[in-house]
Amino acid sequence: MTIGLLTSGGDAPGMNAAIRSVTRSAIARGFKVIGIRRGYQGLLEGDMYELGARDVSDILHRGGTMLRTARSKEFATPEGVVKAKKILDSAGIEALIVIGGDGTYRGALDLSREGVKCIGLPGTIDNDIVCTEYTIGFDTAQNTCIEMLDKIKDTEMSHDRCSVVEVMGRNAPHIGVRVAAATGAIDCIIGTDKPNITARLDEICRKIIEQRSKGKSHFELVVCEGAVDDEFTSADIAKYIEKKTGVTSRATVLGHVQRGGSPTCYDRVMALKMGYYAVELLANGYSNRIVATRNDKLVDFDIEEALKMQKGYDEKLHSVSRILSI
Ligand code: F6P
Repeated sequence: MTIGLLTSGGDAPGMNAAIRSVTRSAIARGFKVIGIRRGYQGLLEGDMYELGARDVSDILHRGGTMLRTARSKEFATPEGVVKAKKILDSAGIEALIVIGGDGTYRGALDLSREGVKCIGLPGTIDNDIVCTEYTIGFDTAQNTCIEMLDKIKDTEMSHDRCSVVEVMGRNAPHIGVRVAAATGAIDCIIGTDKPNITARLDEICRKIIEQRSKGKSHFELVVCEGAVDDEFTSADIAKYIEKKTGVTSRATVLGHVQRGGSPTCYDRVMALKMGYYAVELLANGYSNRIVATRNDKLVDFDIEEALKMQKGYDEKLHSVSRILSI
């Protein structure tokens, strides 16, 4: 079998570990692997090359993706999908393993309807893929955020300030809620707070005033990027808190630093297991599946069904960490 391999959407630490795992698992099975550069856009441009075992050496510990990634507008059209199928056929690629998020899977679903055997691996720092408890890159991103927040805390503590720290996650609160809990932040503002942001901030300001009267001198507030926009930014939140509480406040947007860096042990091991699992699915005749985790075990779902699933967030953790931040 000849397997195409691509990464698509935002890069995530651990994607390289997954590329290495897929490539070597496939070679061990006697399959051929074609690496496709820059996701579906690279596929449409025929930008691909054969990957040998040595081509994926020394990437396990590196962030980013050696195959590069892109978000393709052309591929999102019916003509783009048909063109991609023709290119796969002419390259002799019978199956495709894609690493990315929901958008990447929608592309895989379109290709599977054209007869391409597709397998999806969950790769995004946001952990917002509905069918899986865990996505490759999430653990590293959380740990990067914690490292940054701990540093911010040192200076905030020295100046008796409030730090407003914005984290990524698109519309999902997973990074924010866990990082707020792990750093003892006073609260975490999530995307669903956006329509009532002033009421939420007033509640937090009351808590800051009360805690300050009891001797607490510095505070952190985590803000998920889905809760703010150009009209009301994290800097505006800091100004609002300062005005209402009198506590000097500063905003930091962590930004793309969260997407980079060497993957944690957890991300490397999950990427390794998922990559192997994906190749085993194909070798055993399965296709159009997404690899996922349930209770820390690997499972797989039909792509179409997986895209219809719903995912909540850890509300319990969110409320417990607020109880503890007194
Ligand atoms: O999906 C990963 C992610 O980093 C999100 O958290 C963020 O909203 C988005 O990608 C940023 O995308 P870009 O790098 O294209 O600005």
